[in-house]
Amino acid sequence: VKGDMDELSQAVTTVLAIVDHRFMRVIQLPSWLPLPENRRMKEALTRLDGIIQGFIDERRRSGEDKGDLLSMLLMAQTEDGSSMTDKQLRDESTTLFGAGHETTANALTWTWYLLSQHPEVEAKLHEELDTVLSGRVPTYADLPNLPYTEMVIKESMRLYPPAWTTSRQTVEEVTINGQPIEKGKIVLLNFWSMHRDPRYFKDPETFDPERFSAERESEIPKHAYLPFGAGPRVCIGNAFAMMEARLVLATLAQRYTLLLAPDQVVQPARFFTLRPKYGMQMVIHARETVRV
Ligand code: HEM
Repeated sequence: VKGDMDELSQAVTTVLAIVDHRFMRVIQLPSWLPLPENRRMKEALTRLDGIIQGFIDERRRSGEDKGDLLSMLLMAQTEDGSSMTDKQLRDESTTLFGAGHETTANALTWTWYLLSQHPEVEAKLHEELDTVLSGRVPTYADLPNLPYTEMVIKESMRLYPPAWTTSRQTVEEVTINGQPIEKGKIVLLNFWSMHRDPRYFKDPETFDPERFSAERESEIPKHAYLPFGAGPRVCIGNAFAMMEARLVLATLAQRYTLLLAPDQVVQPARFFTLRPKYGMQMVIHARETVRV
């Protein structure tokens, strides 16, 4: 399965890179044109479908309930007792993998970057991890006792929202900020700008996890902070992502400090997700060997 997962990651990365590319293009070209990009997209999607179908076939054969998402999807039934077709299962799995894969990785990438630039925040994080975990690997049960870890991730997603934009379609004519918008138009929301707007966040450019402390979080106006969107189409992986990000950060930060590689230029690029334009090369140090 390890090999399959690597291939799956590669196929998803190819699809996302092409989606990114299309997203940034002013003129949209139809996907049926025989262009190299369209061919690569089709190949990557076929590969994706093939790998995911392999997982589905194997699970159907074994009939095992692994208690994971695939088992849940396989067991899900509508009121009339019918279950999902293979195509529905593939599409649901691909959506969840695509939506949940790069976003959380992205959140952690920016978090490590911010920690590398703010040793005082990192020291406080280490203090919490050392006190609560004493070197143990964290579990789900530890999460309520790691509030600062959560604050760090929330503040990181304020400055660098992994999904920096979403869209809505107007169901009726509406005027926003004096601008009339016809019914049926697509409106893009820009979380990046909202999260850095001084009307909502004091000293918005400052990395300050304390904004999300129990005392201060309620000061943030409703809908000014939207890393997971809002309303009926809010991210359905929200709670899962927060759990995963906290566990990964707590596990790794307990033992390692990540410092930005010399010469690494950091520039956020607003693709479909918020990516570091030139990557994020960091040097991993065992904690006891640095900053002690
Ligand atoms: C830090 C990680 C993540 C971030 C920042 C993020 C962010 C978002 C945002 C901004 C949206 C659009 C919401 C809106 O338009 O109001 C969204 C939708 C979605 N996300 Fe996430 N997400 C993350 C992780 C995940 C994970 C782990 C999964 C699945 C396991 C997931 C599945 C989805 C799905 C299926 C949608 C579409 C929901 C719908 O249209 O009904 N996301 N996410």
